[in-house]
Amino acid sequence: RAPKTVEINGKTYATDPWFNISPTVLSLTSRKLHLQKDHPVAITRKIIESVFPGPTYQYYNEIDPVVSTHENFDSLGFPPDHPGRARSDTYYINKDTLLRTHTSAHEVELFRTAQSGGFLISADVYRRDEVDRSHYPVFHQMEGARFWDRNKVPNGDLAAAVREDLARLPTHNMQVEDPNPPFHPDRNPLQAEHHTAEEASAVAAHLKRSLELMVNEIFSRAKAAAAAAKAQQGQTPAAESEADSEPLRVRWVEAYFPFTSPSWELEVFHEGAWLEVLGCGVSKQALHAQAGAPSQVGWAFGIGLERVAMLLFRIPDIRLFWSRDERFLGQFRGAGDDWSRIRPFVPFSKHPPCWKDVSFWLRGASAAGGNVKGVAGADWHVNDLMEVVRDVAGDSVEDVRLVDEFTHPATGRRSLCYRINYRSLERTLTNAETNAMHERVVRELAERLGVEIR
Ligand code: PHE
Repeated sequence: RAPKTVEINGKTYATDPWFNISPTVLSLTSRKLHLQKDHPVAITRKIIESVFPGPTYQYYNEIDPVVSTHENFDSLGFPPDHPGRARSDTYYINKDTLLRTHTSAHEVELFRTAQSGGFLISADVYRRDEVDRSHYPVFHQMEGARFWDRNKVPNGDLAAAVREDLARLPTHNMQVEDPNPPFHPDRNPLQAEHHTAEEASAVAAHLKRSLELMVNEIFSRAKAAAAAAKAQQGQTPAAESEADSEPLRVRWVEAYFPFTSPSWELEVFHEGAWLEVLGCGVSKQALHAQAGAPSQVGWAFGIGLERVAMLLFRIPDIRLFWSRDERFLGQFRGAGDDWSRIRPFVPFSKHPPCWKDVSFWLRGASAAGGNVKGVAGADWHVNDLMEVVRDVAGDSVEDVRLVDEFTHPATGRRSLCYRINYRSLERTLTNAETNAMHERVVRELAERLGVEIR
């Protein structure tokens, strides 16, 4: 059933048995939401760019989503057995070619070519995943990096050069918690063969201030947008505006990435909970070495734009970003040129949900034991089910959840029941069309996954 070749952004690629990209996902490769004027994803990108100005930071916003397995995984030090490489998680064109799962796929290439010492990449990324209000198979990421060449800084004093650049950055009044030690001997060691603790600490300090300033910029804009909306409705309670003037709380949490050491995630205290907004760290020297510049030292981060845009614009469902409905797009018109016009999204009427269950027996090896999310050695993976649902019902599905799991006591066969919640964002689905969609989903599940419908 797979086509022999596929065309993506004007280029033709040969497929092989690894090919696993649905027509729906293929069709989204040309949308480029991050480049559409007044689109919330594009506005979020521009706000972030404003914190990382040129000429130091060069912007790359049109890099093709098709990359090699080498660029996406190997160049970054992902081990050969890393689960992210699985066909259940990643969209492959063929064994050696895939739709990038993150913008980090371009780090090595840009460490080679971005001679200004910094860059920002904004791009669409692709991951096979579950169906719910915060997951979509295509989303947008921004990658940022800054690096210094120890052969080019004054007196060869890298730490001093980095600290000098840090001193030029603005300060802020945020409340920053940084509870973990700067290095961890196993997970996040100092790259002692390549730089000193003093150098790594200077780079980390520059990284942290830069990203704190970015988060501050976004959350101040979110606050201003909410306040402006309230003012327009003629309500500005005193107690509220006092709470609004409290400084933003953030914290640095130790993290692990194969291509940074040490590594962190930045979390923001938002509406009573800690929210993870980005991953980052001191770049592994192997990346600079591959770029032919082993004397470079620096940092990198990656951030998901939808997650940030959902909070900045109060967008409740990730499917909305792909909507061409004027009731969605119209709410942001003009805000791309004038950020003071950003307002929280006002949801248009919520249409009624309609859920339907599908139960089936797993076949063959997957019928026995193991957990639902990827039975070892078996050909069943929940992401395959998600993909079929997305392919058949598109954006008419809000979420899909496992509601029952059953192992037959005598035969040991396993049965699963998933609840599919049909709800369009744009209109009320009729009973007849929901039924027809569900029937097709059930049929395709049986056909494509080989499960036995109960
Ligand atoms: N690429 C990582 C992700 O998608 C984020 C990251 C980027 C982490 C750069 C560290 C440095 O999760």
